[in-house]
Amino acid sequence: MCGIVGYIGKRDAYPIILKGLKRLEYRGYDSAGIALFDGKDIQLCKTKGKVATLEEKAKNEMSLVGNLGIGHTRWATHGVPNDVNSHPHYSNSGDLVIIHNGIIENYDTLKKELINRGYTFKSDTDTEVLVNLIEDIQKNQKLKLGKAVQIALNQVVGAYAIALFDRKKPDEIVVAKLGSPLAIGIGEDEFFVASDASPFIEFTNNAIYLEDEEMAIIRLGRDVKIRKIKDDKVVAPYIQELQMNLEQIEKGGYDHFMLKEIYEQPSVIKDTYRGRLLPDEGIVRLGGLENHIEKFLNAERIIIVACGTSWHAGLVAEYIIEDFTRIPVEVEYASEFRYRNPIISSKDIIIAISQSGETADTLAAIKLAKQHGAFVYGICNVVGSTISRETHSGTYTHAGPEIGVASTKAFTTQITVLTMLALRLAKAKGTISHSDFVRYLHELALIPTHVEEALKTESKIKEIAAVFKDARNFLYLGRGYNFPVALEGALKLKEISYIHAEGYPAAEMKHGPIALIDESMPVVVVAIKSEHYEKVVSNIQEIKARKGKIIAVVSEGDKVVSEMADYVMEVPHTPEPLTPLLTTIPLQLLSYHIAVMLGRNVDQPRNLAKSVTVE
Ligand code: F6R
Repeated sequence: MCGIVGYIGKRDAYPIILKGLKRLEYRGYDSAGIALFDGKDIQLCKTKGKVATLEEKAKNEMSLVGNLGIGHTRWATHGVPNDVNSHPHYSNSGDLVIIHNGIIENYDTLKKELINRGYTFKSDTDTEVLVNLIEDIQKNQKLKLGKAVQIALNQVVGAYAIALFDRKKPDEIVVAKLGSPLAIGIGEDEFFVASDASPFIEFTNNAIYLEDEEMAIIRLGRDVKIRKIKDDKVVAPYIQELQMNLEQIEKGGYDHFMLKEIYEQPSVIKDTYRGRLLPDEGIVRLGGLENHIEKFLNAERIIIVACGTSWHAGLVAEYIIEDFTRIPVEVEYASEFRYRNPIISSKDIIIAISQSGETADTLAAIKLAKQHGAFVYGICNVVGSTISRETHSGTYTHAGPEIGVASTKAFTTQITVLTMLALRLAKAKGTISHSDFVRYLHELALIPTHVEEALKTESKIKEIAAVFKDARNFLYLGRGYNFPVALEGALKLKEISYIHAEGYPAAEMKHGPIALIDESMPVVVVAIKSEHYEKVVSNIQEIKARKGKIIAVVSEGDKVVSEMADYVMEVPHTPEPLTPLLTTIPLQLLSYHIAVMLGRNVDQPRNLAKSVTVE
């Protein structure tokens, strides 16, 4: 839940680390810090607040020279966000300095033992406990840093990606990983360490992604030495060539990453189906699925596990998979599934959906399903992420880095993958006619063009945002395939504008929420041409009768709802199962513009972080 960066080499470490922290701020932004070795000693600066605050403070408080350093941007788990609890943390002697992303669950027991041995603590963090445990082992057993780290980590329960160095050995950084991501960038006579590759992508495309329970000793002039933390086995480094470029991870002229990512949807949806969807040949194929089709066809049911927006994509998938394949589907919040003693058998297939591939609850649900012998299929965006490695097989969404905390392009690309999966299975199972199958392939291929059309309504949506920005509550309604879209629209508004919003199946309104409707309640209704169109029209009449304000998402050229609604946002026509890919777009833009007008921090909303690697 934090971002970590490290550098050792011939360049100045400070600018690399600072820029890297800015790119990793999506992982947490309540405090930040940097430690540099200036050739003689460690210089350390840390502060509550964002990396920009750190930058100001560092100018005055530390010498910015040095070719070795580590930095951290924090999302608090243990200890409130303040200067003292910020990372890096020194050991008691001041020789060791560490950054950590994760949680040490048994830190309290370890802390008490260290206090009994005379250690003192400045912060409330679990991380300061870890660095002192390492120091204690190093001193008592007269060990090299790497060995002491290994012994310490064998005593630790929890999750970590750590990087640390010793002022007495300034040619080396030691890193380790369990449950939190850690990439090592390999340059020429220089090394980078980071939570993802964005801090070093302009310097090198070569990276090693550490696996869980691995540690590495990164020493200048040597190859990276990787070991298993538990059994000390040496692991041959696997160096990957990364495909991402710098432009992909910067704002590209948009005011916010979120807006950039909304506008990227036509191209990333194309990237998602490129090479997989061949309408003219009547083919859809997903590499990770082809060898396991039989398993899916013989499955008693599919259980989808996910959190947040990914869970909403799972709900859309429930409609489309059941509709097309007649395989029963259940959709579970990963956080509930993992703790409710669920019935899972080896005849079940689990589909885990996660943009980051690091969400702790989804990961735990996967582990549980595997223990019960279920086959687990992952749909992730981040290549090499923990979930993508923990699953038996899967499909990447290829949406590119999603930096804005509010998920947008991840959602539509997840639905794209799930739609292809449903079509592929339906074809294999014979539950779709060939002509319908080919028609859907062609319609799916047209989605990027339709999304482009939907994006053209932005200026109108901006006007609607201006009218409703001061509303205290919003209701979002949808039916069938667009019920999950209503949930997603409400979630987007809540998280970036801090306005209370609820999503409901439109017909459920009269079972309770209708009591909320009066002239001050904006109701966003997804009312596109569909099987439920007439029913939704009735729901709109019920709202109108109670003086609610209607903002409707309608199909291009719609007359009936357009006349009834106060405001409309049009989307192009597409078959109903594909409509969530379009109806989502105006709702993303509406929440974006309301949040901007309210002066909210759109890309980094309060209390949130991009990947939730804690329970
Ligand atoms: C909402 C949002 C979150 C995530 C959720 C799951 O905009 O971003 O609700 O969807 O935390 O994250 P992933 O998909 O990374 O597992």
